[in-house]
Amino acid sequence: MSFKIQPTPVARANRCQLFGPGSRPAIFEKMATSAADVINLDLEDSVAPSDKDSARRNIIQAIDDIDWGNKTLSVRINGLDTPFWYRDVVDLLENASDRLDQIMIPKVGCAADIYAVDALVTAIERAKGRTKPISFEVIIESAAGIAHVEEIAAASPRLQAMSLGAADFAASMGMATTGIGGTQENYYMYRDGVKHWSDPWHWAQAAIVAACRTHGVLPVDGPFGDFSDDDGFRAQARRSATLGMVGKWAIHPKQIALANEVFTPSNEAVAEAREILQAMETAKANGEGATVYKGRLVDIASIKQAEVIVKQAEMIANA
Ligand code: COA
Ligand code: MG
Repeated sequence: MSFKIQPTPVARANRCQLFGPGSRPAIFEKMATSAADVINLDLEDSVAPSDKDSARRNIIQAIDDIDWGNKTLSVRINGLDTPFWYRDVVDLLENASDRLDQIMIPKVGCAADIYAVDALVTAIERAKGRTKPISFEVIIESAAGIAHVEEIAAASPRLQAMSLGAADFAASMGMATTGIGGTQENYYMYRDGVKHWSDPWHWAQAAIVAACRTHGVLPVDGPFGDFSDDDGFRAQARRSATLGMVGKWAIHPKQIALANEVFTPSNEAVAEAREILQAMETAKANGEGATVYKGRLVDIASIKQAEVIVKQAEMIANA
């Protein structure tokens, strides 16, 4: 390990982030009673330009009026290339109650994007005497965002989570697909008459996970557009979990249980992780750094792998 210790991200459940348009207040109560860990009320791309003002008002009122339980409550503001974002920040920070936990900044391209929002948020917090600091989450969904992902992950102590936004990312990269996440028809290896599908999102996800883990930020997988395809969602989510992501968005309530299922370590996985820790305790007592568990090598690195699973399960159980 480097002399620099890898920072620990915020300890909170983040298995599912449920989105809903700020222009559709009729669903807010349903969002609040859902099983999602994080609620993302949207002011950005699910809200038409003519509805931005009313959506802000809906959200500010709902932050106070609705019982959001112990969920993390986040509002997605508009991108810094729009005329809307400053008003989103000013109205939210000046008028929303302290129940607001987080602001989600979309389409970030560089650390200076976070700096700009941080400066505005900090000034309003001071002016209004807000005592609870607002945290940030960002979406990596452009070529610039992925090219600058590490400086973005390091940009502010407010930053707690980072998501991959597949649709805008694909557009910005010029990818030949209209699919939002998941398997893409033309992305395959070919051998002896058989196609083997590969994962076009893999490298971007891995880059996000590495940047996040370096700087103590939660890496999250973004939307899966086809909400009729449960198995496709599961497959995408399992790949993300395998790579180190902690959760995934739901753009329809159907996807909440699927995300919770995949990102909650299973009883079997937790039991196995505990057995590995036990096997290593025994090995240590015998003066050994490595031993055999179910016919395979486990060593001191296995302790850290097993601890990731046990700690995640304990954190979710205590959330
Ligand atoms: N959160 C909570 N409840 C929701 C919901 C959401 N995001 N979307 C739909 N529902 C509710 C509906 O109100 C309906 O409730 P009911 O059974 O009490 O009538 C039920 O879930 C089934 O909804 P359904 O008819 O299948 O969907 P819809 O046509 O009403 O809405 C979408 C479909 C995709 C438009 C809607 O889910 C949506 O707006 N999703 C979020 C989009 C978004 O925020 N995008 C930005 C991030 S990519
Ligand atoms: Mg987007």
